[in-house]
Amino acid sequence: MRLFVATAAPRTQKTDCAIVGLHEGTALAGAAAALDDALRGQLSRVIKRGDVRGKSGELRLVDTDGAACQRVLIVGLGKKTTFGRKQYRKALAAALGAIAKTGARDAVSYLAESITSPDTYYDARLAAEAAGAALYRVPAIRSARKPADPALKSFGFAVADRAQKSAAQRGLDQGQAIAVGSALTRDLANLPANVCTPSYLAQQARELARTYKSVRTQVLEERDLKRLKMGSFLSVTNGTDEPAKLIVMRYDGGRAGQAPVALVGKGVTFDSGGISLKQPPGMDEMKFDMTGAASVFGAIKAAAEMGLKLNVVGIVPACENMPSGRATKPGDIVRSMSGQTIEVINTDAEGRLILCDALTYARRFKPAAVVDIATLTGACVIALGAHLSAVMSNDDELAGELTAAGIRAEDRCWHMPMGEEYHEQLKSNFADFANACGRDGGAVTAACFLAKFTDGLQWAHLDIAGTAYVTGAHKGSTGRPVPLLMDFLLGRA
Ligand code: BES
Ligand code: MN
Ligand code: ZN
Repeated sequence: MRLFVATAAPRTQKTDCAIVGLHEGTALAGAAAALDDALRGQLSRVIKRGDVRGKSGELRLVDTDGAACQRVLIVGLGKKTTFGRKQYRKALAAALGAIAKTGARDAVSYLAESITSPDTYYDARLAAEAAGAALYRVPAIRSARKPADPALKSFGFAVADRAQKSAAQRGLDQGQAIAVGSALTRDLANLPANVCTPSYLAQQARELARTYKSVRTQVLEERDLKRLKMGSFLSVTNGTDEPAKLIVMRYDGGRAGQAPVALVGKGVTFDSGGISLKQPPGMDEMKFDMTGAASVFGAIKAAAEMGLKLNVVGIVPACENMPSGRATKPGDIVRSMSGQTIEVINTDAEGRLILCDALTYARRFKPAAVVDIATLTGACVIALGAHLSAVMSNDDELAGELTAAGIRAEDRCWHMPMGEEYHEQLKSNFADFANACGRDGGAVTAACFLAKFTDGLQWAHLDIAGTAYVTGAHKGSTGRPVPLLMDFLLGRA
């Protein structure tokens, strides 16, 4: 998709579709009013007829004859006072989704002028991300022919003032990179577990290194993991025939020798629960249990696309969690790479078992900060639902950075506590600690488990179990938290 900053006056801007906003209970304003003038009142007549009232979510496509724009899409924006960036993002998504179903090959959005507190860079970036998302199609595997690709090929972000042009262009460029990264995340997460295996992820990492000079990939095999004494990670992969991989992707965009930011992503390509087998309903969704890993892939790709001026290392422990005669059993004790021993109370608490060794491995890069990303606990979904991710950290400043990044990127997370009280729940009679305990505070105790491996690191954990994918009719990966991660990395660059 070609993205551009549109600087022409609305009445002269040539486009297949102009996207304008209408607030509830107000008259046409700004670009909408200018277009209405040029169209001799065609838009106000549509409004007068009561066909569109400006309610949030309303869409009305108007064909225009003989004007510079061939169509106008009137988008209901709801109340003027409440139209912030969140509502803007929703309105854009709805508008672009509708346009992608028409024959329009290009579109220009004037929606940003309606935001209560506009910020050209972010408004443009979100527009680019929305455009990418509108054109995203799940990698469906069907026998019949594929649905036709949308006609939409180019998208303009309109600015009223030329002084905003460079900020808008930067927003579009970075937003497009984020969109491309998110699309990779969504593709990898949406693929079924019989396609997207640990080996497949390793191939994709090699592919990134082939595509971008700035990316180097290294794949560690099970024999390497044994040599590294990753007994915890290896205990999860005992039950499967698919070989586990530890995938390392280095993106070098910062100066040589600059300490990298490490991103560690949970890559359980299928989580059956192991011997602590899950219930059948919804078990298919456990193909999404590698979304943390997929978000690391997406972030590395986005960083390479935008030429981010920062060193980033992505670390992905990838394996399946399956039951078998060789699978780890509840009560088994394993020794992690850190030397600490773990009683595996529940083989379904496998994410922390693979992450702890990956976190220990991250130390060798002497990272400035480590952020792990994982669909780690059902308890997180209970706590925060599908709206916000959870962030836990041993460093309040880092947690604050991530929270702020989430707000700016419209990909929010909420800071949750950790503490001695919660650590006590993980006590074991037979090993240094257990991998699971009662259900109370499950998202927090999972984070506390990881904290036992991050002494001396500036570390944060993102639990994305609720935000990584949606269920129901539109089941699929959301591409989160790539926007949050990229905003965080941009802030560090
Ligand atoms: N992958 C799951 C967490 C999960 C649940 C993600 C629902 C997305 C939606 C994780 O491996 C898991 O099974 N966690 C257990 C931990 C428990 C056994 C301590 C859980 O949340 O029940
Ligand atoms: Mn599990
Ligand atoms: Zn899991």
